[in-house]
Amino acid sequence: MATERNGAEGMSAVRRAWLRELGVERLWNLPGAVASAAPPAAPEPDASPAAQEEPMAPSPGPVPAPVAAGSERVESVAFVQEIPAQEIPVPAATPADPGQAWAALQDEVRDCMACGLCKGRTQTVFGTGSPKARWLLVGEAPGEQEDKQGAPFVGRSGKLLDSMLASIARSRQQDVFIANVIKCRPPGNRDPLPEEVARCSPYLMRQISLINPEMILVLGRFAAQTLLETDARIGSLRGKVHSLSVAGRPVPVVVSYHPAYLLRSPAEKVKAWQDLQLALSVGRARN
Ligand code: URA
Repeated sequence: MATERNGAEGMSAVRRAWLRELGVERLWNLPGAVASAAPPAAPEPDASPAAQEEPMAPSPGPVPAPVAAGSERVESVAFVQEIPAQEIPVPAATPADPGQAWAALQDEVRDCMACGLCKGRTQTVFGTGSPKARWLLVGEAPGEQEDKQGAPFVGRSGKLLDSMLASIARSRQQDVFIANVIKCRPPGNRDPLPEEVARCSPYLMRQISLINPEMILVLGRFAAQTLLETDARIGSLRGKVHSLSVAGRPVPVVVSYHPAYLLRSPAEKVKAWQDLQLALSVGRARN
């Protein structure tokens, strides 16, 4: 992890700028501070990077439960939602050596022709960061820039994501792995089709299994609904700690807005900040 520095004077310019943009003066993520991710009350607009809005089912609603017994700070903000924990499958042929398994997965993704998206791509976008990262960030699918450069979140929304990470003293190179549900660019940045999700999401599941992250931060409605196997609205998924079962181990999942949505709706950045605080509080509760 990047080192946490105390006090505003120790902050990098980008971190200070992001905090100022949010109107945040206090460093809530410093030890002893209080996170404030209140569950949102009002329905949220669609936060997908794509323009379409899918019909949404009503939210099942959270079941309030403390994430970490004995931690007042976390109890006050975090809820475990009773969703069926999705078991992440590991393919039978996975090499025992994690490094080999990772390289094999990279090769498979690079050569994938499992759906029609392979015809329009420049290249697949496997993800970036360290496979040993403690946090996994999951977005939707590559856009035009990502397709060209072969890396996730390299356009405007990627820059915003970098600023958001910097605001909590994390960097995409060292502290997180960033992946998408879909590894090839959908034409015109349309929402991926169910068939494409079905073909591609097993790659993400294998990435999750191999990284075995401490926490998954899901960016946007599409990725959240796919990973949590729900059609609940993003507004009802935020502000809670969900859970995925990875090799029998529960991995907390926090949902936030997609950076592309934040670019269109800057007022919502405060909520994204709250989501980051929730993610940090989850990490602290587990350490
Ligand atoms: N939007 C995403 O969801 N992922 C990317 O990699 C880029 C934009």
